[in-house]
Amino acid sequence: MRTLEKRRAAKVSGKPRLHWHFGIRLLHWLTVAALAAQIAIAFGPMRGPGMTMMNWLPLHMSIGVTILTIVVLRLCWRSFTQAPVRPTSRFLGFATAFFHVLLYVTILAVLITGWLGYRPMPFMPPARLFGTLPVPLAPSVGALSARGFAFVHQKLVWIMLGLIGVHVLAAMVHLGLLRDGVMRSMVFGRPETASRE
Ligand code: HEM
Ligand code: HEM
Repeated sequence: MRTLEKRRAAKVSGKPRLHWHFGIRLLHWLTVAALAAQIAIAFGPMRGPGMTMMNWLPLHMSIGVTILTIVVLRLCWRSFTQAPVRPTSRFLGFATAFFHVLLYVTILAVLITGWLGYRPMPFMPPARLFGTLPVPLAPSVGALSARGFAFVHQKLVWIMLGLIGVHVLAAMVHLGLLRDGVMRSMVFGRPETASRE
């Protein structure tokens, strides 16, 4: 198994890669941390009474823009690095890649609909990102109003959480049952073979 893996890796780059590139791993776990903070705020204090939502929105949007930056950076980096090479079937490889693309698309859709759903209260200045940058108002898109997009934003969050649940479950199956190094490829530790790190 290991020999086949090494041979396939050598075919691609001349060197076996069993871990995701350090930058991809770092950005992956930064996404997890920022998303966790975002979810905690959105389902916690942001749901308070009266104007609470409006008071928390600047922080909510600032974290959202941080997530967007991490995801865009990660996608750029991702297009220049090689994924770990594993002896999986073509179908499983395709299904995994498709699922990861779906995760990226959903998270981007959450971010975009959040922006499209934002409208400051009448007679109030737009919220400021990180306390300084005013949030540019999104243009009207299609037939949906800002309220409509805010609704879609909230529903998409649940879809994203469902996909993340499946993703984490799959990671746990790899870690606990299959023990095939998939989890190790995304965490920090000593690489097992000569990789490009
Ligand atoms: C991945 C990042 C994000 C997540 C997970 C997220 C999650 C959520 C959730 C769960 C709510 C509903 C809170 C409630 O039930 O009361 C919400 C509301 C909202 N979010 Fe986000 N959000 C994200 C990014 C953004 C961004 C980037 C923006 C804008 C630039 C944004 C703008 C809004 C607005 C305006 C609302 C209020 C909607 C309303 O008026 O009901 N969100 N968000
Ligand atoms: C505790 C939570 C998480 C765990 C344990 C986890 C675990 C992993 C593991 C083991 C891999 C490597 C899979 C492989 O090589 O086939 C991976 C990749 C990936 N994960 Fe996660 N993950 C978590 C949360 C998330 C979240 C919140 C997102 C974003 C929405 C995410 C998005 C991705 C993506 C897109 C990849 C593919 C690599 C890439 O293209 O950057 N993960 N994850």
